This record gives sequence, C-alpha cells and structure tokens, in this order.
Amino acid sequence: MSTLSISGLNVFFSTEDGPLHALKDVAFEVPERKIVGIVGESGCGKSTLINAILGLLADNGEVRSGQILFEGSHELTQLSKVEMQNLRGPRISTVFQDPMGALNPVLSVGQQMVNIQYRDDASKAQKAARAVEMLQLVRIPDAESALGRYPHQFSGGMKQRIAIAMALMMEPALLIADEPTTALDATLEVTTIELLKDLQKKIGCSVMFISHHLGVIAELCDDVVVMYAGEVVERGTVRDVFHAPGHPYTRRLLECDPARQTERTRILPTIPGEIPDLRARPQGCVFAARCLQQHLGCDQPQVEQNLGHDHAARCNLADEVSNQEVSA
Ligand SMILES: Nc1ncnc2c1ncn2[C@@H]1O[C@H](COP(=O)(O)OP(=O)(O)O)[C@@H](O)[C@H]1O
Ligand SMILES: [Mg+2]
Repeated sequence: MSTLSISGLNVFFSTEDGPLHALKDVAFEVPERKIVGIVGESGCGKSTLINAILGLLADNGEVRSGQILFEGSHELTQLSKVEMQNLRGPRISTVFQDPMGALNPVLSVGQQMVNIQYRDDASKAQKAARAVEMLQLVRIPDAESALGRYPHQFSGGMKQRIAIAMALMMEPALLIADEPTTALDATLEVTTIELLKDLQKKIGCSVMFISHHLGVIAELCDDVVVMYAGEVVERGTVRDVFHAPGHPYTRRLLECDPARQTERTRILPTIPGEIPDLRARPQGCVFAARCLQQHLGCDQPQVEQNLGHDHAARCNLADEVSNQEVSA
C-alpha cells in the first residue's frame, strides 16, 4: 500500500483572465517508507500540489477532479476542514525553507515541543523527555538546556533541525519537505540531508521532498517525479530517471546541470524559453515549444509511455529518448 496515491488530479485557479489549469492529470505514488523527490522549475505547480494535498489551496483554487488517497483510506479531497486539521501535523507534517514558519519566536523551544504533543496523555515531564530525545536525534548539542532557549538563540542550520524534530516528533506517516535545505550553505545542506534520511528510516515514514537541487534528489530520494507546467512528465526510481531519462525535459535538466561536470548546483539549470501560459495550454505536448527533439506527433496530446517497472514518461518518443546516452 502507498502512503499517498494521487490520480487524475486537476487543479484550477480562477483569475481575471480566465481559468488557469495549474495541475493537469497529475498521478503518482508515494510508497510506504520511501522518499519521493519532486523536481521542476518555478511555476511548475509544486506548491499547488502540496497545498492540494494539505487542503490549503488559495480561495480562488479548486480541485476539479481526481483523488488524493492517504494511507489507503482517507480521500483527502473529500475531507472536512476539521478532519483535515486532525491529519495535518500528527499524520502529515511539513518542513519549509524558512524554519521560522514552524517556530514561534516568543515561546521557548521546549514549550513548543511540549505543546505539539497536546493530543498525548503523557505527563509534562514525559513530554519534555521526548522533546530532549528528539533534539538529540537532530544533533542539537546540550539538548536539555536547549529546551529553555528561544528560536533566535540558534543558528539557521540548528533552527531548521529543530523544525525537522518538531515535524517528526509525532511520527507522521508522511513528511512533506519543501526546499528545506535551500537556504543552508552547502556543508549544512549535506548534514541536514543525512539527518533527514536517518530520521526517516528510524521513524519509518514516507517523505515527499521538493527540491531544485538535482544532486540532493539523487542522494536522498528513492523515486523522483519530474513536473513541467503542472504535468508529471516523468516518474520512476532515481536510478532509472537519472540514468535513462525518457522525457526530453528531464534530459535537458540533467544535461544542463553543472553538477554533472564539476560540482553541485544549488539552483535548477536554466533551459531557454518559458513555461506556456497555463490559461491557454497548448493542445499538444506542453514542452514542445522548448524541446530539441521536435517530431510530427508533438502537436498531439502526449500519452504516458511505460519504460519499464514503474518508470514512465509523457512523450511519444520516450523509448527512443531513454536509449540515448546522457551526455555530460
Ligand atoms: N492563487 C493563485 N491564483 C492564480 N494562479 C496561481 C495561484 N497560485 C499559483 N498560481 C499559478 O499556478 C502555477 C503553479 O504555481 P506554483 O504551484 O506556485 O508553482 P511552483 O511552486 O512550482 O513554483 C503558476 O502558473 C502560478 O502562477
Ligand atoms: Mg513553490
């Protein structure tokens, strides 16, 4: 069973210039105990996807069709506000780029970590002990006295690790991490990623990890979902997608990635051109205008092509593309 199973998801925003089709027929799985990376340039629908899962779409947004099945039994698109609130936090938790979104500047770290456990019957001392244990797991030095300190007394890297500790404290089934290491320097990024991987294994949760950083995705994730203009253009194991990409967009991302030649890149490589206007989606392939592999079928809607076990790409040429060498 998958922790999260998304199928046929279509999200629209109403705008002054008409309906904007932000997510189109999105489908993928987040298997139990797996880390799934979501990659795609700005405006591809990553935040919309997260918000749709969390039931936090902007007022002008609407899930028009599709399913978001959580733990096989909760159909998230059908839950009431209260039911969703009860899942958010304890069962589906989040970490964002800015840890201060999760930390309250006027409460000590200990108070906040005890407060999170409000649903628990344990005594206050037990809750504090649990907080210490979590802080130790995220390698905050002198965890016991750290409980009495306030967020501003910690460095950026430590604040992010505290936010991770808070997100995982209630042992959620799913952690959604949106660019959690983007604001950190390269060394801290590596340690934070290692930590996240250790904790994920220990807790046994699934993770959806959004990142621009292809190197981090390759290191951390089991599976990867490549998004372009609100569509999943490719999905599969990191191994399959990075070694034999079947979509020209994935191939361009990998080929443009300076990490392939020298060192890691902190931003997604740039590909000439722009994402199409999502208010007037092209009839055919969404990537056609920027694609180097033009052929006759590009003006037709592209069907997801199966490239092997759980590896698929939305390009009629996928078979051919995946057999090309990935050039550095
Ligand atoms: N509240 C909104 N109203 C109208 N358009 C929106 C709204 N939120 C996002 N969009 C549009 O939806 C598309 C996807 O945006 P987003 O999910 O933020 O992408 P990403 O997180 O990948 O950068 C973009 O075209 C963006 O302009
Ligand atoms: Mg975003």
